[in-house]
Amino acid sequence: MKFEDMINTIQLGDCYELIKNIPDKSIDLIVTDPPYELETEGSKKNNISKTFANCNSQIKGISEGIDLKILDEYMRIMKKPNIYIWCNKKQILEYLKYFTEKYDCSFEIMTWCKTNPTPLCGGNYLIDKEFCLYFRKGIKLNTKFETAFTYWITSKNKNDKDNFEHPTIKPLNIIKTLIENSSKENDIVLDTFVGSGTTCLAAKETGRRYIGMEIDKEYWKIANNRINGIEASGQMTIMFDDKGDILNE
Ligand SMILES: C[S@@+](CC[C@H](N)C(=O)[O-])C[C@H]1O[C@@H](n2cnc3c(N)ncnc32)[C@H](O)[C@@H]1O
Repeated sequence: MKFEDMINTIQLGDCYELIKNIPDKSIDLIVTDPPYELETEGSKKNNISKTFANCNSQIKGISEGIDLKILDEYMRIMKKPNIYIWCNKKQILEYLKYFTEKYDCSFEIMTWCKTNPTPLCGGNYLIDKEFCLYFRKGIKLNTKFETAFTYWITSKNKNDKDNFEHPTIKPLNIIKTLIENSSKENDIVLDTFVGSGTTCLAAKETGRRYIGMEIDKEYWKIANNRINGIEASGQMTIMFDDKGDILNE
């Protein structure tokens, strides 16, 4: 597969293999959301079943859902370190060590706080947030006051989950903000763990190019349909750009 042919597509397959087709220093920004365990140790006592965000059981040597060897590939393909990775709290330390100690990147720990978490605590704290780590080096941000916050407080995005049938779908407006803050129009944004396609859609809607990868055929179909404005139910959504013109005619 030629690199040019991957642009503005979502590739069906294992990202650990597909990423080898991407040339060195060709990607402007990575925004990705690997499978990770959402629950804390405390949740076991609460008898909540652990939710892995669709972990591919074939992955070996994983630290909580991601094989860290892919980080070396990320570093190889990025023009400059410029990467957002969603994770759980147990993974933060490992990612920080990798990007700051090995590559001297600066970092942010961003948080998505949910106002309506599952109301179970059993003597522990609630499972009410997810983390997004940002690592960069030699990258100047395009932030303005409104877009420079490092936390978001929202309810769980139930409508998106229902419409696109993915249990760990991320809010589209958050991902669009991250992309606009850290890239410019026509840049190439990569997501190796596409799920329902939030990063690719956010890239498209902000005038960036994208490359997506997804191993699950059902999610791959849902993501492709979503990019074309079709919900999992088959219903068409009309998408508008900032000027009010229809994007998916
Ligand atoms: C946490 S979800 C991503 C959700 C996404 N951010 C969204 O908003 O819909 C992780 C996705 O990675 C996919 N995945 C897991 N292992 C993979 C692999 N080796 N290659 C490509 N995709 C993989 C899973 O099927 C799952 O859909």
